[in-house]
Amino acid sequence: MKGSAHMRMTVIGTGYLGATHAACMAELGHEVIGVDVDEAKIASLRDGEVPFFEPGLPEVLECNLDNGRLSFSTSYGDAAAFAHVHFLAVGTPQKRGSFAADLSYVRQVITSLVPLLEGEHIIFGKSTVPVGTAAELQELADSLSHPGTSVEIAWNPEFLREGYAVKDTITPDRIVVGIREGSTADEVAREVYATAIEGGTPFLVTDLATSELVKVSANAFLATKISFINAVAEICEATGADVVQLADAIGHDDRIGRKFLGAGLGFGGGCLPKDIRAFMARAGELGTDQALTFLREVDSINMRRRDRMVQLAREVCGGSLLGKRVTVLGAAFKPNSDDVRDSPALSVAGSLSLQGAAVSVYDPQAMDNARKVFPTLGYVDSVQEALEDADVVVLATEWQEFRDLDPVASAALVAQPVILDGRNVLDVQAWKDAGWTIHALGRNV
Ligand SMILES: NC(=O)c1ccc[n+]([C@@H]2O[C@H](COP(=O)([O-])OP(=O)(O)OC[C@H]3O[C@@H](n4cnc5c(N)ncnc54)[C@H](O)[C@@H]3O)[C@@H](O)[C@H]2O)c1
Repeated sequence: MKGSAHMRMTVIGTGYLGATHAACMAELGHEVIGVDVDEAKIASLRDGEVPFFEPGLPEVLECNLDNGRLSFSTSYGDAAAFAHVHFLAVGTPQKRGSFAADLSYVRQVITSLVPLLEGEHIIFGKSTVPVGTAAELQELADSLSHPGTSVEIAWNPEFLREGYAVKDTITPDRIVVGIREGSTADEVAREVYATAIEGGTPFLVTDLATSELVKVSANAFLATKISFINAVAEICEATGADVVQLADAIGHDDRIGRKFLGAGLGFGGGCLPKDIRAFMARAGELGTDQALTFLREVDSINMRRRDRMVQLAREVCGGSLLGKRVTVLGAAFKPNSDDVRDSPALSVAGSLSLQGAAVSVYDPQAMDNARKVFPTLGYVDSVQEALEDADVVVLATEWQEFRDLDPVASAALVAQPVILDGRNVLDVQAWKDAGWTIHALGRNV
């Protein structure tokens, strides 16, 4: 079912979020230009090639390039002339040497776009930003817009999950739009998202600050839930209790729920780590740092899991990793993605290598990105090749391919049948029956 009102819009910044948003808005019937300063990325998207791995996105991209609703450009002039509705989807990474978010890209979009606009325009921010950013960008836009031109900044945070980005964009579980007093940008957002709203997606209109905080609070909550179970995993390790059984048992309580209680190597990626840090930094600026000091613990618990995994590998190798052959299964920060930003898997692989192990990494999708971040690790082309002659195997990202590994066939490939399940996804009994020594985070198996 398609929404009735088809609109014109631009999406500025065509990374994981923006390329997906642009293609999916075209899929919903809108006419869309995606704009980025990265010429190689734009060239690739124009050719119908998604420059990252996202299931289902290549098909949506190709179809909408073909039907003419979707195009790409490196020109802000094209964007300004094409539409009155713009989505801002550039990165907000962690600033070097600070916990705060780097807002330079977001500001750059306003500085580049606004002086080119004429008439009435709305810019919907989708990037994850510290509370107060939208109001600041409104001031910046007001200072740059021509007399007689009005530019309204509204915030429409994005909740998509990499790996499910197409589905999450077309049928989101909620839509949040933050507007300043008197703005009617929410009515325009209702037209943009008419299809989802007709399909029953909740549509929440808030003030700007609330909309910015919704996104960072959601991520802080998810990070806290993961670190909660990983903190309990540390206690389980000290007492011989089993964190997986424990998570199953508490997860049956629907006030708690089993999701995001997967004990293991913890969270990473381009969002959660930098978002909780930016949230803490912003709280500090607001004089409310005490409110979020617990997030520092959340971050520490998360990072400790990586150290614990390296320590475990050292222990099973008899106290030293020097010269040991270690296989790391996984490089992406989570399955169904090729994103290696702040990946726990790569962090563990890197530490193992620095401690003298000969590390072989295999990932079904993230090899190219991993090579760029950690060129010194060994990379192989298949899981079988990765397992050959290994002294210890570390399962670091829970790809289905690794969950499905046959323990009997795998045992025949390695030098020592020792596996560390960093994601608690293997059938412990099956692996033991095949002759493996298996260790898992938070379990005494
Ligand atoms: N990746 C996700 O799953 C996800 C989910 C929700 C929210 N977010 C948020 O969305 C934002 C973007 O994240 P991402 O993962 O897509 O990042 P990304 O690094 O993949 O993409 C950012 C893009 O912006 C482009 N860019 C930078 N400066 C520009 C400029 N001045 N003009 C035009 N383009 C410019 C870059 O070239 C890049 O292609 C971040 O704030 C992130 O926190 C991401």
